[in-house]
Amino acid sequence: SINGHAGGVLWLTGYSGSGKSTLAVALESALAARGWRSFILDGDNLRRGLNSDLDFSPTARAENIRRTAEVAKLMADAGLIVIVSLISPYLRDRQNARTIIGTGFKEIHIATDLDICKDRDPKGLYARAAKGLIQDFTGVDAPYEAPVSPELRIDAGAQSQTESLSVLFNYALREFDPGTILQANANFAEGI
Ligand code: ADX
Repeated sequence: SINGHAGGVLWLTGYSGSGKSTLAVALESALAARGWRSFILDGDNLRRGLNSDLDFSPTARAENIRRTAEVAKLMADAGLIVIVSLISPYLRDRQNARTIIGTGFKEIHIATDLDICKDRDPKGLYARAAKGLIQDFTGVDAPYEAPVSPELRIDAGAQSQTESLSVLFNYALREFDPGTILQANANFAEGI
């Protein structure tokens, strides 16, 4: 209520190079310009600290996602809009994140075509993986299980960055509108 918006988690999932981090940063700015408080939890950053002991095996990715979901839940409970940017390639792990976080969890599939991600290859990692220099690389020799019914799907390859941002921004405004807090408070009051 103090922030003027609800807390929650926008969980951006998609291939490396799909545009998750770029969109996350643009959304953070757009929300800040409106006075809304958000914070980005990005895989690349988390893997330098909290998750620096984890590799890219399925078990380690599951733990990466579990820890991130627990942190995101705490931050959402503190009233922030948490923007998570993780490949999070396995359905089961994202389902686990949904269970941990509860109703504030919004799964956003950044559904850029794998071929476009490979062409962009902003960090040169697809080229290295194709040469066998990196193992278990998502989209090369490790799978990506696309969401079946995400709350929102954005094809950041087919539309401009401005269009993608506008869709995501409007979605966030709708989902975390103060009205949702009033409703939650009303439901709570009814329960006592
Ligand atoms: S996740 O699968 O566990 O969700 P996460 O989003 O944290 O992955 O990290 C992905 C980032 O790690 C990529 O953007 C890339 O920069 C880097 N990376 C290094 N090795 C790999 C790999 N084998 N597979 C995917 N990403 C990798």
